[in-house]
Amino acid sequence: MNILVTGGSGLVGKYIVEELLHAGHTVGIADLVTPAQDRAQFHHADILDLDAMTSVVKGYDAVVHTAGIPHPLNDPAERVFDVNVNGTFNVLEAAARNNVRKVVFTSSESTLGFAFMSNAMEPLYAPIDELHPLRPQDPYGLSKVIAEQICRTYSARYGIRTVCLREPWIWVPEPEPVQFYKRLVKGYEEWYKNLWTYVHVQDVAAAHRLAVETDLDALHEVFFITAAENWTGLDSRELLRRFYPGVTTIAPDLTGAAAIISHGKAARLLGYRPRFSHADLPGMQ
Ligand SMILES: NC(=O)c1ccc[n+]([C@@H]2O[C@H](COP(=O)([O-])OP(=O)(O)OC[C@H]3O[C@@H](n4cnc5c(N)ncnc54)[C@H](O)[C@@H]3O)[C@@H](O)[C@H]2O)c1
Repeated sequence: MNILVTGGSGLVGKYIVEELLHAGHTVGIADLVTPAQDRAQFHHADILDLDAMTSVVKGYDAVVHTAGIPHPLNDPAERVFDVNVNGTFNVLEAAARNNVRKVVFTSSESTLGFAFMSNAMEPLYAPIDELHPLRPQDPYGLSKVIAEQICRTYSARYGIRTVCLREPWIWVPEPEPVQFYKRLVKGYEEWYKNLWTYVHVQDVAAAHRLAVETDLDALHEVFFITAAENWTGLDSRELLRRFYPGVTTIAPDLTGAAAIISHGKAARLLGYRPRFSHADLPGMQ
């Protein structure tokens, strides 16, 4: 297939581009930043420019929409909201104008609301799945909830297949973040808002490829894409008991260090299986 990756020059996007190229797809990148490699056609384009996106998207079979502001901590709220919401609107509108049949959107586990909550909340049950309510308190989580709704709306109106992939913290093998992850594991008590959930970037790339390549029955789907285990290695029920004592509905399949957010639906419908853990990151052993 001929696939456009928005944000293909970014931390996560470059791994998605590599995965798609490796699988034999033809890939284009739309980004404000020139990519490090030249095996994908590069379009210097702003997702906030609908006319530019309408012309960039022309001729592609599918779009992987990864461009965006990846958390609410470095940018003003209105910029996070603008880029993630209006940028997604423009990508879907450009796809509709060009009769593109599939859009895969890099959403986030932040849609749940825990990661950047200001006021305490607890999961309603564990492990969390796609039926759990979305209760964001911050502009980033809110922007991803609205962006998912934009996908749903474009599926309903134009029959575009949209797949939203909700990742938790995506762990990458670059040396600087790895040093940070090592400190994080030691101080896991401080990171309860993250539910100690992560996913290896190569599994994220594979999930995007599967979402592009798989024909699902529903026109619109959402999936959590997580690692098999939490990043502490500790017992997940014990973590919940200590940090989220209100969680009393716990399914039998939450055993040992199993992830508190389940990738079970992605396993069933996309054939997604996490193949990597943090122990595969260089320096984490
Ligand atoms: N990094 C994580 O842990 C994580 C977790 C869950 C979801 N995500 C999502 O994954 C996506 C990529 O995140 P990342 O960590 O690679 O971030 P990143 O900042 O490294 O990459 C984002 C890319 O989008 C591009 N971009 C930003 N604004 C743009 C615009 N207006 N027009 C065109 N391109 C633009 C940037 O130039 C960059 O290349 C984001 O949508 C983020 O919300 C990331």
